[in-house]
Amino acid sequence: MSEINVDFAFSNDENDVITRRLLEIRVNPYKNYADFQAEVIRMIAETGPIPDDFRNLCYAKKYVNSFESPYIFLKNCPVDPDLPILDLDSPVIDKRNRKTTYVAEAFLLLYAELMGQQPIGYVNVNDGDIFQDIHPMRSLMESQSQKAAKTIFFHKDLANHFVRPDWVNILGLRASKQNEIYTSFVRNCDLLDYLDEPVLKGLREERFYTPYDDLTLSSSNKKLGRAPNHPILGGATDYDIRFFENRTVGIDPQSQELVDEIVRALHVLKKRLLILKGDFIGSANNECIHNKEVVRIGDEGAVTNRWLMKTVNVRSLDMHKMYMMPTEVRIVNG
Ligand SMILES: [Fe+2]
Repeated sequence: MSEINVDFAFSNDENDVITRRLLEIRVNPYKNYADFQAEVIRMIAETGPIPDDFRNLCYAKKYVNSFESPYIFLKNCPVDPDLPILDLDSPVIDKRNRKTTYVAEAFLLLYAELMGQQPIGYVNVNDGDIFQDIHPMRSLMESQSQKAAKTIFFHKDLANHFVRPDWVNILGLRASKQNEIYTSFVRNCDLLDYLDEPVLKGLREERFYTPYDDLTLSSSNKKLGRAPNHPILGGATDYDIRFFENRTVGIDPQSQELVDEIVRALHVLKKRLLILKGDFIGSANNECIHNKEVVRIGDEGAVTNRWLMKTVNVRSLDMHKMYMMPTEVRIVNG
């Protein structure tokens, strides 16, 4: 089931050709990102593995108005044929040790390159890894993070961080059809249309507070202090929405009523996707808001092995230069 239109579906033959080509990339992106990127760029320059229709779609999507069209949804994308079952105590370390092909990573990067997007990492999140897993981890199963097994409330990725991603791109690696674990989206434009003018006015006031996210707070590296009060609406752009369901609170009862109104609206407007293996959803992080809803579990065992991979990307590394690690141009120092 999907409530978002499919923009492109790779045929099985196209999938085979790209997968085989991406399997040839042996450079480890977790150890040597620059060389990995060079391999992907070399592959993009080749005639053959990437269908022209897909290149054309990316070219068209690159210039689309992301306020009106924040999504790109692809089916039957290349994924590693063999994926290890990850140790739930430390899935990220286990992945780095035992995932020895990089088809998913290469596809995420290939897409970013074709779209003119720059993937970034955060030193406080998975030690700065660019390729991140949406995969349960035992100690964070109940959290509101990429390592949760439960529902994650509506949010934008790193919305109150000093480097906010422009895009969040997610590729399904392993998921059971029997588990209704939805990734849902609401466009900013639909939410703004839905809310009344007095509500919108109230949301522009600095009367809301959102603590930093669970993953950042659980990091030993943090030096962040208390997050400041903020408006929900407005800021970087006129339509900017800074909101994390059940975390963002109003600092007084009237502001809290506005928060409750947003929550109600989001659940009326949401579009659901069941992301399975080979499904890819690219979303403009500042033009839509997303959640994960665990609705019905038919295969309990598959819940803890569910694995999506994602990157968060920005338009330009240069724009964020002052926040980056001194020697790592795409790793945010925070
Ligand atoms: Fe997210």
